[in-house]
Amino acid sequence: MSVTVRVPAKVNVQLAVGAARADGFHDLANVFLAVGLYDEITVTPADALRVTCEGPDAAQVPLDRTNLAARAALALAERYDRDPRVHLHIAKDIPVAGGMAGGSADGAGALLACDTLWGIGAPRGELLDICAELGSDVPFSLVGGAALGTGRGEKLTPLEVGGTFHWVFAMAERGLSTPAVFREFDRLAEGRDIPEPVASEALLDALAAGDPDALAATVSNDLQPAALSLFPELADTLAAGRGAGALAALVSGSGPTTAFLVRDPGSAESVAEALRVSGTCRTVRVATAPAAGATVL
Ligand code: C5P
Repeated sequence: MSVTVRVPAKVNVQLAVGAARADGFHDLANVFLAVGLYDEITVTPADALRVTCEGPDAAQVPLDRTNLAARAALALAERYDRDPRVHLHIAKDIPVAGGMAGGSADGAGALLACDTLWGIGAPRGELLDICAELGSDVPFSLVGGAALGTGRGEKLTPLEVGGTFHWVFAMAERGLSTPAVFREFDRLAEGRDIPEPVASEALLDALAAGDPDALAATVSNDLQPAALSLFPELADTLAAGRGAGALAALVSGSGPTTAFLVRDPGSAESVAEALRVSGTCRTVRVATAPAAGATVL
């Protein structure tokens, strides 16, 4: 018997970052949008807890107990007194260390898969609590759709989305570490007053209206200067997508994946092709949003 769960990637259409807190985290106003690129996590009873991974980036995925899928299985087993000896297989399509919550997706997916396999049927609130312990972006991976994340990003308010948004994503030649990008944010912010992070009303209206031009005019990412400082070549990727007619070009979360909002599927194809021939990225993917959260297949 096995259970497979499909979990989407995310892009942050707004990422407002406050000053570093005493615990080292940053308060955020984080507008998450789930996009239709997916990891699939399959859980099967086994002799020991183990993780395997397939996909183009599989070699970069840790298979030990630092993997969020393994940590999710252990956390759920502990809370509900179950046997954590399972095989977790990750079919990975979300870029690794890319700023698209790929690791978080695997945590949320493993949690829901084990909950189903073990017949627990844990209340949603319990699952969300475990997700928040695993990482700031993990609750959103479970929920999907669109949501405002406050606190360190884990306190979610669902958001209305009034249409389908078309995106192109450019994956970079190497990854970026999220803690390193936040440290660079702190370094660049030194001596400056950092305002409280707040969600943009205009951006929430644009999402609710399903209006790509209004969304393009309001997207923002406070981590983008830090990501560009650590990975200056990303400016060339952003310029290539803008030059090809993207309505907006931004770094996804802590990067280095870059995200391009486009008007329609035709424009997605032309921006994707321009990025492919630009020589400024490793691979290019087209996807729509919003996407459903973690789903048992
Ligand atoms: O919560 P998560 O484990 O995904 O966070 C990874 C790292 O990103 C944290 O250790 C921290 O350095 C940084 N971070 C932060 N503020 C947040 C979320 C993450 O500084 N709100």
